[in-house]
Amino acid sequence: MGRHDKEVLDGSGLDRRRIGYYATPDFVASYVAERLLSVNPSGHMVFDPCVGGGEMVAPFVEAGKTVVGMDIHDYQRLQGIEFVQEDFLRYFRRARESGSMPLPYDYFTANPPYNCHESDYIRQHKSTLTHLFSGVGVLNMYSMFLAAMIQLAKPGAAIGVIINDSFLTSKLHRGLRELVLKYCRLHDLILCPTDLFRKQEADVRTCIMVLERLGRDAQTMDSMVRTQQRPSRTSELRLQLDQGKMDTRPLRDLVLSGGSDQKELVVGCPETVMRLFSMPRLGDYYPCVTGISTGCDARFVSSEPQQGFSVPFYKNPGSRRFFSPPDGYLPNDFLELSEQIPNFTVRNKRHLFSEGIACSSMGVAFGACYRPEGSVFGVNANLAGCGPDLWWLLAYLNSSLVTYLVRGVLLRSNMITSGYVSRIPLLPLTEQAKDQLSQLAVRGYRQARKKGTADTAVSGGINALVYREAGLYQTDIDHIERFCSDVVRRT
Ligand SMILES: C[S@@+](CC[C@H](N)C(=O)[O-])C[C@H]1O[C@@H](n2cnc3c(N)ncnc32)[C@H](O)[C@@H]1O
Repeated sequence: MGRHDKEVLDGSGLDRRRIGYYATPDFVASYVAERLLSVNPSGHMVFDPCVGGGEMVAPFVEAGKTVVGMDIHDYQRLQGIEFVQEDFLRYFRRARESGSMPLPYDYFTANPPYNCHESDYIRQHKSTLTHLFSGVGVLNMYSMFLAAMIQLAKPGAAIGVIINDSFLTSKLHRGLRELVLKYCRLHDLILCPTDLFRKQEADVRTCIMVLERLGRDAQTMDSMVRTQQRPSRTSELRLQLDQGKMDTRPLRDLVLSGGSDQKELVVGCPETVMRLFSMPRLGDYYPCVTGISTGCDARFVSSEPQQGFSVPFYKNPGSRRFFSPPDGYLPNDFLELSEQIPNFTVRNKRHLFSEGIACSSMGVAFGACYRPEGSVFGVNANLAGCGPDLWWLLAYLNSSLVTYLVRGVLLRSNMITSGYVSRIPLLPLTEQAKDQLSQLAVRGYRQARKKGTADTAVSGGINALVYREAGLYQTDIDHIERFCSDVVRRT
């Protein structure tokens, strides 16, 4: 989350931003309440474990429900809430230890803390939390809040949250996704625009999720889910929620469940594109590897080749495509150095010095560049052992389809590691298409080398070929192009 240093004081003198307070907009709270009431029409009791000023529960207070709100801080609050000042995670622990679970509430609603100081909290309570959240991990406050609510809820209870959405695809959050899928029916999964909390100076990717705690019946993959791709702006989200204009898709279209997949929850991906994930993946054919971490680039990487530093080192092409100069030069004796210096790490030695493809790792754009023979690579994803397939693979990796597969499906958060690249579906291209793609990649490489970027004719040609080979409909292509034209806001 982007943060600035200014304090934002609550009426009670608390600095809201320091404690991760980002108030839920009223139209979001109204939508969540309306959905919870439709999932469980006959309930009376509502619980918000981080109630703050009562923004999330306001519609329930208005509807005359019995509302209990907990918070670690005591804010100025809406009337009509029975308030308990307590740390919710501590409360959860007590409820578990004393066996007073499930709780009697019919509705759980929350906008869990996006606490910039959560790492301090987690560090201080590490051993207790690790034990308490053994299956889901102790990665964030929000993920622990959600896991606790699911475990505290009785069968039939409805749970509605607006929550950080990094858990949808992050590998580390697989346990939380499994908990959701095992114990709840997923009713709504709607991505929110990145500007939703911007007025409060927070830049956070969130989603609205509505769940129903299941009893004995398992969630079926046929159950229908209201879902919506991330809109560019808050005004669009408001319109979608007001008009109920959401896609409805069976759960199976939303979960990646191939052998190498991590049960990622995918939102808004066209069916034909989801089907590509049943194809072989890049990593089934080509080693997708990381290489060297010097532990101190300032000491071991020279920006120019010089005496003793002549090994071209490719760390991260970033937004560059087709061609990138080396990011620097390593010492000629780097292999010996790595034997002597503990945090100078060299992985996958047998793939070093061979030609390959370097993929970007940081930043939102995804791109790939040719890496020449004699060079070595960093901890970004690298394809090695491509042989005669190198050039068409380079074209494919720079296609809009792959940008979408990586950013719109496999990983919405920032760091694209080799594990993600190795899971990109590999289309069964015809030999003719491979030849044409190779020619376009070589053209793109020459142009980028000469003037920094490749012409749009190159990317246009690559995209047309890849779309055709993937057998996508024009509506799917439009969807992908829309996503790629605004990757930063739609990811
Ligand atoms: C993002 S704000 C949400 C506020 C309000 N409920 C809303 O929806 O606008 C998160 C809230 O979590 C509270 N909080 C942070 N850590 C907590 C904890 N361990 N237990 C309970 N509440 C906590 C903060 O005080 C803050 O009120």
